[in-house]
Amino acid sequence: MHASDAGTWTLGGRTVNRVGFGAMRLTGSAAFHLGVPSDRRLAIATVREAVRLGVNHVDTAAFYFSATRSANELINAALSPYPEDLVLVTKVGPGRDPSGEWLDFARPDQLRGQVEENLRQLGRDHLDVVNLRVLGPGPLAEHLGALADMVGEGLIGHLGVSGVAKEQLDEARGITEIVCVQNRYSLEARSADADAVLEACGEAGIAFVPFFSLAGTGTAHGRPALEHETVLAVAWAHGATPPQVRLAWTLARGEHVLVIPGTGNPAHVAQNVAAGSLRLSEDDRARLDALAGT
Ligand SMILES: NC(=O)c1ccc[n+]([C@@H]2O[C@H](COP(=O)([O-])OP(=O)(O)OC[C@H]3O[C@@H](n4cnc5c(N)ncnc54)[C@H](OP(=O)(O)O)[C@@H]3O)[C@@H](O)[C@H]2O)c1
Repeated sequence: MHASDAGTWTLGGRTVNRVGFGAMRLTGSAAFHLGVPSDRRLAIATVREAVRLGVNHVDTAAFYFSATRSANELINAALSPYPEDLVLVTKVGPGRDPSGEWLDFARPDQLRGQVEENLRQLGRDHLDVVNLRVLGPGPLAEHLGALADMVGEGLIGHLGVSGVAKEQLDEARGITEIVCVQNRYSLEARSADADAVLEACGEAGIAFVPFFSLAGTGTAHGRPALEHETVLAVAWAHGATPPQVRLAWTLARGEHVLVIPGTGNPAHVAQNVAAGSLRLSEDDRARLDALAGT
């Protein structure tokens, strides 16, 4: 079992395995301050298990913290000195004060401070990929321009965008090079625009990196207690778990689709990596496709 079992993709000039890891769930039983802070040793063991199984694409953010745990600090403690092949992706735009309250979306001149905050926490001099996490409609030029300046200075390797509609992706690509798009995308949350973004990324050679592919409608709270019968039936037929079916369906959407399942549980990391070798039939996929919008 290896994170490359579903293949690899070139992200910002580096080869990453298509099964990656999302760090938002390292900090507690639910994201942000919604749950109970995690056990630090277990969280560190989770990140190390991911890398041991070949994960070399890790998604994080400075605003991923609970009362007593910080995703960036845990990644730093678990992995530093970092493996040569690791691609660390972070995101800027949103911010939280020390008590966890959300701040206003960053002005362009505040993005440098957010980049530097990530550098300090991760213990690096350079961020491989930074996503501008957009929170709604509005021009992107000044924000992406500020980040592109930091690419020029060597603080950032490559840029991506997150939470974008198709027309925002088009706008972003007209401003600077975009290497990845991180959007919400799951069996249920899949609008025509969401698919249009996924397809446009494939045509342009841009990585599409979905979030909430397992949590679905549970969003930041985590996986809902009830799973769709179709997912359960496909899982049963393959001797797989429902999250593995969700990941396999997501990976089957295109070679440019990279998954970043989030977990604070080393056993779940292993199951998520194993999902990379689960191949669904056309019939399975058609049945799962029909869950869009449910
Ligand atoms: N750009 C953005 O705006 C944005 C927004 C949200 C998230 N993200 C990124 O995307 C990543 C993925 O999103 P996410 O973590 O919110 O949601 P997710 O990966 O869709 O689902 C995470 C939930 O699934 C559970 N889970 C994970 N693996 C499992 C398994 N094998 N079996 C059973 N349950 C499992 C986790 O609980 P356990 O901890 O118990 O395993 C957690 O409750 C995040 O970690 C973050 O890096 C980005």
